[in-house]
Amino acid sequence: MSIENLEQIAQAMVAPGKGIIAVDESTSTIKKRMEAVGLENSEENRRKYRQLLLTAPGLGEYISGAILFDETIRQKTDDGRTMVQAMEAAGIIPGIKVDKGTHPLAGHPGEMVTEGLDGLRERLQEYAQLGAKFAKWRAVIKITDDTPTSAAVEANTHALARYAALCQEVGLVPMVEPEILMDDKDSTQDLDTSFTVHKEVLQSLFAQLELNDVMLEGLILKVSMVIPGKYAAKEDQVDPEDVAEATVRVFKHAVPAAVAGIVFLSGGQADQQATEHLNIINTMGPHPWPISFSYGRALVSKALETWSKDQTAQYAAAQKTVVERAKENSLAAQGNWKK
Ligand code: 13P
Repeated sequence: MSIENLEQIAQAMVAPGKGIIAVDESTSTIKKRMEAVGLENSEENRRKYRQLLLTAPGLGEYISGAILFDETIRQKTDDGRTMVQAMEAAGIIPGIKVDKGTHPLAGHPGEMVTEGLDGLRERLQEYAQLGAKFAKWRAVIKITDDTPTSAAVEANTHALARYAALCQEVGLVPMVEPEILMDDKDSTQDLDTSFTVHKEVLQSLFAQLELNDVMLEGLILKVSMVIPGKYAAKEDQVDPEDVAEATVRVFKHAVPAAVAGIVFLSGGQADQQATEHLNIINTMGPHPWPISFSYGRALVSKALETWSKDQTAQYAAAQKTVVERAKENSLAAQGNWKK
């Protein structure tokens, strides 16, 4: 795969008015989401639910790509197509989550490092054969009074750079995701602390990417917004404009203009809040990069809830819901969303 191909895929992922849907919850995370709405976490329910989302009529108008979990890329739709074929028919680029989740970082209580580098080259080659065009790896950084430590930041950004280099070698666009948690039980940070940690993590990440010769034009950054923690003190709560301003400011400090695009995770923000922040950020442009969304929960929560009420009768209504959320975020990615 040539460099031009990687660039083309990356640009298509952040084409104007398009964003990415994350349906790559691990089996344990989707269990929590399904059980919260009274659904059984069976393989068949997971297949049906992912099919519902990925084949929602009209989704491809707003969604450029979808991140799948290993199980889903191997599954078929009711009509016998592979999920990948169904996505391609809808104009949705297949992506795959390739990390193996977070594990406690030795010697650093409470901190985590994402694992999955062993055997990654071979796994990436298989995913490319199955039709994936991009791959996601999520690192998690936790803010407390004592964290993140430099050890945790470096261990995670080093792993992100190693995975990104392997992706590009195999011809997959890396979607590099450092998530600074805002909805952890300890998330009481104020906006300034969130800014400082985002800056440190992003600067470390791009230094590691440089060291590992990763081509930024063929890379997508997926990141959290600079936002106070969910459990921050009342006086530390801020306006949406402040979140947007701090987020854009940190990007200017720490994200090279050569990066193909930046997309956000929703991270526990309310659906509408995630959309409003994205919209304000895009009204502040033009920016050096397309800035769009790669939401999971903020796109799909309502659809899952709707579907849980009656899996046959509510199937089409749930599909409509995810397309509506995708459309709202598509407008926000262009700064055209209205409350
Ligand atoms: P949320 O938008 O639900 O945070 O998920 C996005 C994602 O892919 C996290 O890795």
